[in-house]
Amino acid sequence: MINITNRVALVTGGSRGIGRATAIKLAQSGADIVLNYVTSRGAALETARAIKAMGRRVWIIKADVSQEDDVDEMVSFVDREIGQLDIIVSNAATGGFRQLLDSKAKHFEHAMATNVMSLIYLARASKHLLVNRPHRGKIVTISSHGADIALPMYGLIGGSKAALESIARHLTLELGGLGVNVNVVKAGLVRTDSTERLPGADQMFDGRVHKSMMGTRTLEAEDVANVVLFLSSPLSDLIQGQTITVDGGSEIHN
Ligand SMILES: NC(=O)c1ccc[n+]([C@@H]2O[C@H](COP(=O)([O-])OP(=O)(O)OC[C@H]3O[C@@H](n4cnc5c(N)ncnc54)[C@H](OP(=O)(O)O)[C@@H]3O)[C@@H](O)[C@H]2O)c1
Repeated sequence: MINITNRVALVTGGSRGIGRATAIKLAQSGADIVLNYVTSRGAALETARAIKAMGRRVWIIKADVSQEDDVDEMVSFVDREIGQLDIIVSNAATGGFRQLLDSKAKHFEHAMATNVMSLIYLARASKHLLVNRPHRGKIVTISSHGADIALPMYGLIGGSKAALESIARHLTLELGGLGVNVNVVKAGLVRTDSTERLPGADQMFDGRVHKSMMGTRTLEAEDVANVVLFLSSPLSDLIQGQTITVDGGSEIHN
């Protein structure tokens, strides 16, 4: 049983999907949670209720992680009101499913700001809270298969995820010696609000049984959250700048 009691974890996009499962998983393991959302206040409140019911402290903060000022204000709130931050899960992402050939600069910039720059904004704003503590600070972010392989209509997000993995490694170089781990969880296909909207979603979900090597056991948000929990805990102190794949084996074969 992983115990992260007395840690404070900020989860971006914690209202729904993998972020929600992660916030709940970290809370079950003892952490107090700063829950970020941008549009779904009702879903954020519902997730917060579930966390409170476990006896954990929870704070809900609306902030658009693609906006530097929003991230700065969110971290200032944490500094002022809590005075502690041990774990950041940079989970929120967007991008829209469209062909690269139909994309304008604004689409690319939006995907990069939300999916990549947000990690840098979070790390920079939180550095003073994370470094040189008795235990190591933890930053975990979420990537996808689109970082390595080409998927229909996924170029904007896939390209941003490839950048994200590289940026995470470079952040490790800057923060590792100061007592912070930065790692990436690369998730296979999980049924969430965003993947329900993927072109050809039903076929992709049906194909999971053949792609993964888990029989009929499908990858769920909680499976991703389990790996995030490990990377948020002292058990992973010697794992630095890595991308760990959780997909039931889908990516290693055709
Ligand atoms: N699902 C998959 O199969 C899969 C596979 C690999 C990787 N991933 C990655 O896992 C992460 C979560 O994906 P998901 O499928 O769980 O997504 P989701 O169900 O669509 O949820 C997205 C979450 O991100 C938040 N969000 C979006 N833009 C934001 C912004 N600008 N500022 C703050 N929050 C924002 C949303 O907040 P609101 O609710 O307030 O809108 C929501 O909580 C993403 O990084 C995604 O790329 C997912």
